[in-house]
Amino acid sequence: SKTKSRFVVGSHVWIEDADEAWMDGQVEEVNGEDLVINCTNGKKATVNLSTAFPKDTESPRGGVEDMTRLAYLHEPGVLQNLKSRYALNEIYTYTGNILIAVNPFQRLPHLYNNHMMGIYKGAEFGELSPHPFAITDRAYRLMINDRISQAILVSGESGAGKTESTKSLMQYLAFMGGKAKAEGRSVQEQILESNPVLEAFGNAKTVRNNNSSRFGKFVEIQFDQYGKISGAAIRTYLLERSRVCQISDPERNYHCFYMLCASPPEDRDKFKVGEAKTFHYLNQSNCIDLNGFDDSKEYIETRRAMGIVGMSNDEQDAIFKVVAAILHLGNIEFGEGSEPDSSAPKDDKSKFHLKTAAELFMCDAKGLEESLCKRVMATRGESITKNLDAKGAALSRDALSRIVYSRLFDWLVNKINSSIGQDPDSKILIGVLDIYGFESFKTNSFEQFCINLTNEKLQQHFNQHVFKMEQEEYTKEEIDWSYIQFVDNQEILDLIEKV
Ligand SMILES: Nc1ncnc2c1ncn2[C@@H]1O[C@H](COP(=O)(O)OP(=O)(O)OP(=O)(O)O)[C@@H](O)[C@H]1O
Ligand SMILES: [Mg+2]
Repeated sequence: SKTKSRFVVGSHVWIEDADEAWMDGQVEEVNGEDLVINCTNGKKATVNLSTAFPKDTESPRGGVEDMTRLAYLHEPGVLQNLKSRYALNEIYTYTGNILIAVNPFQRLPHLYNNHMMGIYKGAEFGELSPHPFAITDRAYRLMINDRISQAILVSGESGAGKTESTKSLMQYLAFMGGKAKAEGRSVQEQILESNPVLEAFGNAKTVRNNNSSRFGKFVEIQFDQYGKISGAAIRTYLLERSRVCQISDPERNYHCFYMLCASPPEDRDKFKVGEAKTFHYLNQSNCIDLNGFDDSKEYIETRRAMGIVGMSNDEQDAIFKVVAAILHLGNIEFGEGSEPDSSAPKDDKSKFHLKTAAELFMCDAKGLEESLCKRVMATRGESITKNLDAKGAALSRDALSRIVYSRLFDWLVNKINSSIGQDPDSKILIGVLDIYGFESFKTNSFEQFCINLTNEKLQQHFNQHVFKMEQEEYTKEEIDWSYIQFVDNQEILDLIEKV
């Protein structure tokens, strides 16, 4: 025989299961390469011994706080540990200095209050239950003691809880580094309030997550020599644009559109909007209302947060006018124009939406119509104007909506950055990365492809960093170690990036 089996009759094992991922049992028979397993759940299975994993029968029922203490760090062992802890509402678990969070899908406010932050402040890492505050406390202290900037990366698939975790990291940084309130808004308050603003304009309901981030974000929080927050910079990456014009059941467009349509009557008058279901960009999907999400309350909340991050009332109105204009643009339909192969707004209804969009954009209606129904091509110093047919005009309408929305988003980010302000003298900072998580649907758009590639890149960074770091540590401490097997995704990156 090639290898002597690790298993004998009576060994406790984990084997794969189509329904439950993993099931445990005991070896009843060993027949060459095959094991006959008597499973705890009553099933009987015959498997190749290479697919079975040893089960630790002595691991505590409630799991362990740090998975490096597990006898076996294989997939079933790790998952079993997370599951036992989750059953006791322990959603956080360490693997060394990595924190794993399992989405509780319920509010656990007692975990994140001021009292909790106080407990974690200055506590030795690993002394208290695993928590994002502990990770942040460690990063903060490393930054202060070693004068080296730190970064906390949050990864996981869509709906895993990255954005919620990021918010508790930021909350703790604000707690540790917050300055006593001077006049006006404090920097830490502005940093925290940038979250609801960016979520209103950059998050949407998807199949996987009612509040899915549709952009990537890296927040740099800068500190002065006393360890107090002195500035911040928010960098965002690649907002998903296609969503502005195209959504499918049961998804939604960006939250801000529904908030606007649920705003108080005087605001709806001002922005010339009616019910959400009257707009093409929103009613392509049957999902208008979101369970547990009150759009009219969120509207008020978003405007309050916009005020805190330094947007005047007039600026807020201007922003929502652009949002409203996009909705009206989406309701313009095109028919045949007077010239051959040309186009024009189809009927009075479309003319009304064109006029309203122009009013909201504060531009000339005729000019707007021409920009949609004609295409200007520049050739060797001259420009030629060409008519577009109805289909072409609809495409240019959607292109305009997408570009205007993404510029609006960029404007918001710049505005937040300039009102929070950067500290040119800051030498230490903590960066927090929160991206859009991996997703795979029946059909995936090019933007989905980019999102997934970003996730692969982050995974590669994680692999290299974690495994390289650990390896160096072992070598330094002269520990006899064997290579840890991990799935290296470099080939996937090469396939896409190596031209
Ligand atoms: N720690 C938590 N406490 C309470 N609820 C949570 C927690 N983490 C996640 N959730 C719930 O799960 C939902 C999805 O989490 P979140 O938006 O953070 O996912 P994500 O990883 O950022 O996903 P995406 O990649 O789509 O942006 C939240 O809206 C919230 O309802
Ligand atoms: Mg998110």
